[in-house]
Amino acid sequence: MPTLTPTQLLLELEPVVAENLDRHLAIAKDWMPHEYVPWSKGRDFDVEPWEPSQSTLSPVARVAMEVNLLTEDNLPSYHREIDSRFGRDGAWGTWVHRWTAEEGRHAMVIRDYLLVTRGVDPDELERGRMQQMAQGYDSGGKNILEAMAYVSFQELATRISHRNTGRYTEEPVAEKLLARVAVDENLHMVFYRNLVKAAFEVAPDKTMAAVADEVIGFEMPGAGIRGFARKAAQIAKAGIYDLRIHHDDVVQPVLRHWGVFEMEGLAAEGQAARVRLAEFVAGLDASASRFEQQRAEAAAKTAARRAAASANA
Ligand SMILES: [Fe+2]
Ligand SMILES: [Fe+2]
Repeated sequence: MPTLTPTQLLLELEPVVAENLDRHLAIAKDWMPHEYVPWSKGRDFDVEPWEPSQSTLSPVARVAMEVNLLTEDNLPSYHREIDSRFGRDGAWGTWVHRWTAEEGRHAMVIRDYLLVTRGVDPDELERGRMQQMAQGYDSGGKNILEAMAYVSFQELATRISHRNTGRYTEEPVAEKLLARVAVDENLHMVFYRNLVKAAFEVAPDKTMAAVADEVIGFEMPGAGIRGFARKAAQIAKAGIYDLRIHHDDVVQPVLRHWGVFEMEGLAAEGQAARVRLAEFVAGLDASASRFEQQRAEAAAKTAARRAAASANA
């Protein structure tokens, strides 16, 4: 099959977008961000300045929520990314705007929660938001198939990171609101995952190449946050989002859903891409196991040190 132009590809997939948009609108529940925020806890910052002891969340839970929020904050850039790939016409355009409107709630509800409960230093948060949005987000010139493949993994990664952050807080209000956000991310993932599945039928080799490239080069959308590497390490150490989760709960389920490793009829380009993908995923699995082992060893050492210190006390 000759390579489709971007416009041909968008037109080919438009009926699938329309069908999935209808499905999405039928099951997505309207929800009110303000109903998830404990407003009665709010106090004026000029009367009672912020200090860390005011939050009931652990330091790592606060870091995770802050990373999730700053990631969501860059929505204008994400909108530009998908708008420039998928366009504003027809069902694609309706989806782009609807998706953006749904995503808008996420930063809103997390920010309101963190400010009202004093979970973050509000000045630091605002400086972080300015830095994050001023630098913007650039996916690096992905084509349509790459953009669709990326968001399939990214929406699922975001869903899991919100959900696990919520659990980690051990704070029922935070857990409830992050679980609600995670439901949205899951529906977004399903939408894109279905589109990629259809793309495999329209352009199997190019789609396989896009999927391989996006899995191999995957980076969380919040990677530009100041201090991201250090924060991501804390989040991984806490088991909120680590390589094992990325491999087992994000990469593998999506690849399985598409039947990537059972797909027949691929030409040389698609086959070569699948080999690269399989090698990378095996390496990711091995790295995940190494990370788990190192984390367990470090935890055992800390426990032993603590036991020795309390025996000497
Ligand atoms: Fe979101
Ligand atoms: Fe999303």
